[in-house]
Amino acid sequence: MADLDGIKEAKQFYTDVPQTTQGFFLKGSNNLDWGLKNRLGRIFNSDSGRTVMLAFDHGYFQGPTTGLERIDLSILPLAPFADTLMLTRGILRSIIPASTSKAIAIRASGGPSILKELSNEQLAMDIEDSVRLNVSAMAVQVFIGGEYESQSVINMTRLVDQGTRYGIPTLAVTAVGRELVRDAKYMRLATRICAELGAHIVKTYYVDEGFETVTSACPVPIVIAGGKKRPELDALKMAYNAIQQGASGVDMGRNIFQSQSPEAMIQAVRAVVHHNETPEKAYDLYNTLMHETVGTQNGSAERVPA
Ligand code: R5P
Repeated sequence: MADLDGIKEAKQFYTDVPQTTQGFFLKGSNNLDWGLKNRLGRIFNSDSGRTVMLAFDHGYFQGPTTGLERIDLSILPLAPFADTLMLTRGILRSIIPASTSKAIAIRASGGPSILKELSNEQLAMDIEDSVRLNVSAMAVQVFIGGEYESQSVINMTRLVDQGTRYGIPTLAVTAVGRELVRDAKYMRLATRICAELGAHIVKTYYVDEGFETVTSACPVPIVIAGGKKRPELDALKMAYNAIQQGASGVDMGRNIFQSQSPEAMIQAVRAVVHHNETPEKAYDLYNTLMHETVGTQNGSAERVPA
């Protein structure tokens, strides 16, 4: 009770030291509220400003995707190497230990299966469930140029409004219909619309020509989807090029979990994203780790992520 008794006179007010006001490290996010920033700070590593998001939400429209038949066996061993897990609430509740310290990006839209018109999505969960699950972001598909374009954009803006109420960021996923041309012009249009209408993170595909104009014109962080499985070195080159051209990370699925060695691949991707490793050196790392993995008794790589 020293203060109340008035015994201690020399308090440490540091009147000669001005309180510092730090900016927030993430592109376009400095004016957000504390809760939004805190959740974004769980998704993105504050040292590199980037994220390795492991996407395995594919089942929400295509069921047991190759590599995701048994998420408990194929994905849980990869979780230590990811910054963020992108998944559905069904898989979160049934498979992911509640003790996980990983940021969660929850799939919040859905409706049609691969048997139907995919752009006809609705919001597929209440904001209360996102709060209950303590997620760090909510993901919604946006189909610019698609048959249900306006509906999907309104899905996104509704999610942004709901999430803003509770401090939960929205991740807009730009989905490109088969009939549309995947070029920088389209990606600029789609990503910019999402950001203008309030998305806090935008996910899009990498394009070989002019991707730097896509990241430049988008005022919030862009993460790239991996897309169809390609050879490991090619996937690492794509991730490297995207990062060097302004992407804030990857939200990669099939190119990791369908790899010959998913544990080695996610660590190689991590080296590219967080340490600017060249694709060739990251591929060397992949090969080294793959052979180490084969050599371990339980088939699990033993290196701990940086
Ligand atoms: C698809 O819409 C899902 O959001 C996937 O998470 C996304 O496509 C990323 O996965 P991949 O790297 O396999 O393309």
